[in-house]
Parts: sequence; structure tokens; C-alpha cells
Amino acid sequence: MKRLLLLFGVSLILLALYMDRQVPEHVVLHRARVVVISSLMNVIHTLMYIGETFFNYEYYHWLKFDFPIQPVMDNGDVKARNDVIADTPVRIYTPYSKTESSISPGILFFHGGGFCCLSIEGFYHDIAMDLANRTGSIVISVDYRLAPEYPHPVGLNDCFAVTKYVYEHSNQYGIDQNRLYISGDSSGGNFAAVINDMLAEKHSINLAGVILVYPTLQMATFDLPSCHTESFGPLTRTLMAKFLTTYFNVSSTKYHQAVLEGRHVCRSDRSIEIFSKYLKDKVSMSEECDVELSQKMAAVLDKTASPLFNDDVSGLSRTLILLAKADVLRDEGILYYERLKEKGVDVQLKIYDSAPHGFFSDGLCPTQYNMAMDEIVVFVNQSSS
Ligand SMILES: *[C@@H]1O[C@H](CO)[C@@H](O)[C@H](O)[C@H]1NC(C)=O
Ligand SMILES: *[C@@H]1O[C@H](CO)[C@@H](O)[C@H](O)[C@H]1NC(C)=O
Ligand SMILES: *[C@@H]1O[C@H](CO)[C@@H](O)[C@H](O)[C@H]1NC(C)=O
Repeated sequence: MKRLLLLFGVSLILLALYMDRQVPEHVVLHRARVVVISSLMNVIHTLMYIGETFFNYEYYHWLKFDFPIQPVMDNGDVKARNDVIADTPVRIYTPYSKTESSISPGILFFHGGGFCCLSIEGFYHDIAMDLANRTGSIVISVDYRLAPEYPHPVGLNDCFAVTKYVYEHSNQYGIDQNRLYISGDSSGGNFAAVINDMLAEKHSINLAGVILVYPTLQMATFDLPSCHTESFGPLTRTLMAKFLTTYFNVSSTKYHQAVLEGRHVCRSDRSIEIFSKYLKDKVSMSEECDVELSQKMAAVLDKTASPLFNDDVSGLSRTLILLAKADVLRDEGILYYERLKEKGVDVQLKIYDSAPHGFFSDGLCPTQYNMAMDEIVVFVNQSSS
């Protein structure tokens, strides 16, 4: 028994040392925690691999995390209640500082989790509480449906329907229509960016602002520089490729390697244009492609999946982009910022040093989390005057 423990301990230390080398050198602040979470994710990756290879057990089951339903819905400053909007379950957070008759800013929040995992519970409940308290806004966290049971664009359309309903019935929720925001992190940030366009294009609706926290903005390639240099800990490029297969309901075991190598996109006028115009030739397109897969995943080139490939961004609402420097998704965030800026959209970018993907939700990097929250408070406050 003692020997077993010793062996276990030594393996853990070796793993930590191994991971320490994987974490880029520019991660200085809270480095020890980042190394620990990366090591844990490495263990989970190994379990995923074993499950997929030997037990036909899809990787995402390891990440679903069935958080218990929150019993305490009131922390003294914010009250939360469950509701349903446009057939989608939501939780509405109201700060006590808001009086019955007043109208407040409103923030819709779409949680992250690779399109297939997590929910409004767990750490997303705490973030929504904090967001409501700090901004003095009514926050509505949307429990959209998840892939693969509900693949693209089901979750997106859930979030869109909630947004449109709240916009049109803002008074009913005590929200000022002119101060309505949408926000999301990671895959939720993808939804927020796409919905920004859907509202502007189809409905000529402009929101007070859109807040994107390390969003997924394109699905054509996993070879932008940050995909390679920052591929460690909570989000690796392998995991990103797996999430993508799940979002489009194709087998992760069978296809994630093909997606990782870019074989889900074949050469066509459109894809060639995308690589040169939107990815600025920073990545070359894979020589090989899997025709059948590319047909199943054709929507990856569509702006409803990859908002970076939107031909007309000029009508978008003002946007705040918060990125983590040590994140595979960093470079597509920068490309999106540059494109919006070039087309005259009111857009701001902040990149947090030493921060890995997930810093906004996992509670491991309080310094960067607080800086990001402060940025959001200022952004929301700017429309209030
Ligand atoms: C809410 O914000 C106030 C200050 O604005 C702070 O004192 C309080 O601790 C916050 N409440 C919670 C539960 O975070
Ligand atoms: C997802 O794919 C599986 C296997 O191909 C299929 O049986 C199922 O109907 C698909 N689900 C959806 C919602 O498209
Ligand atoms: C919000 O805006 C008002 C007026 O523009 C300003 O006085 C106040 O300091 C701002 N608060 C924050 C937290 O930015």
C-alpha cells in the first residue's frame, strides 16, 4: 500500500514537472495553479483516450460535470430565480440595489463549455451573481441545449430566441432596452458574436454592447500560431478539435484527428478566400481533405459558426473583447478585433497576461478575473450616462 502511494506520488510529481514545461514561460502570475490545472487536464485527457479507445465512451462525458442545483439563490446582494424565456430555461439575477420601479441595464450571459458541456450551475452561477452585483444589472443566464444531442445551430438559436424576446419585452424584466448587453465566454462568446450579427443583419437591432470573453471565432483551422504555442491546460488544440466534432455531431473518435489536421475543409473558392482574407494567410490550408466529413461540417465556413468569416461586419454593435494571452483561441480573437476595427465597429480589446483559457470561470486566477470584471463594469457603465 505504502509503495503504491509512493508510486502514485512520484507519478504526480513527474506529471507536474512535465506540465510545467508545457506551460509557456510568459505565464508568471498564479503559475503554480495553472500548472496544477494543466496536470489535471492531462490526466483527464488520458482518461478520455482510454475511454474512447477501449470502451467506446465519448470523451465529453468526463466534462459534463453535473453540478448540483443551487439551493441558496440569494447572497444578500443579489437574488436569483429560475424562469423560462422563449421555451428555454434561464436564471434571472436581480441586484437588491435595484428598486422595484427602476429600470436597469440587462446582461444576457451564455456560458462556455465547448458547445456540449457545463450549464448555468456551478461556477457560472457564481459569475452571474458577481456580474449582477458589480454592474448593478439584471443578468439572465441562459441554459441553452447542448451538443451532440442538439448540434449546431440549436444552442445558438435558443440563445438568439431568448435575446430577441428580452429585447422586445425588456420592460417586463425591468430592463432598459437601450442598455441591453449580450455576453459569453468561450463557446458562449461564439454565440454572442454570432447573435450580434443576426440581430444587426436580419432585424436591424443594435444592442448597447457585446462582451466576448476568449470566444471561439472560427472553426476552419487549428493551426494559428497560438494554437501551437499555447496548447496546454484547460483547453488544448486536441480538445478544441473534439468539441468541434461534437458540435457538428460527427464521431469524435473517428474524426477528431482529421479536424485537427484541417481535413474537414476542402479547397473551394470560398475556403481559399477565407484563408487569405480572414485568416490573412497566417495558416496554409491542408493539402488533403475528407470530402464526406467536409460535407457534414460544411457550416464551419458559415458565419453562424465562424463569425470571423462574416463578409459584412459594419453594422455590428459595440464590442468588448477580453482575451487570455496563454490561450489557443488568442490569435483568432486578435484577428476578429482587427477586422472589426478596420470596418469601423466600436471595438475594444484587452489581453490578460499570464492568463490561460478558463481564467474567467475557474476561479484560479483571481487577479486577471478581477481586472476583466472591472473592464466589464466600465463597459456597461458607459451606456448608462
Ligand atoms: C456586492 O458588491 C458590494 C460592493 O459593490 C460588495 O461589498 C459585496 O461584498 C458584493 N457582494 C457579493 C456577494 O459579492
Ligand atoms: C447524431 O448522429 C448520430 C449518429 O450518426 C445519429 O444517430 C443522430 O440522429 C444524430 N443526432 C442529431 C440530433 O442529428
Ligand atoms: C460610471 O459613469 C459615471 C458617469 O459617467 C461615472 O461618474 C462613474 O465613475 C462610473 N463608474 C464606474 C464604476 O466606472
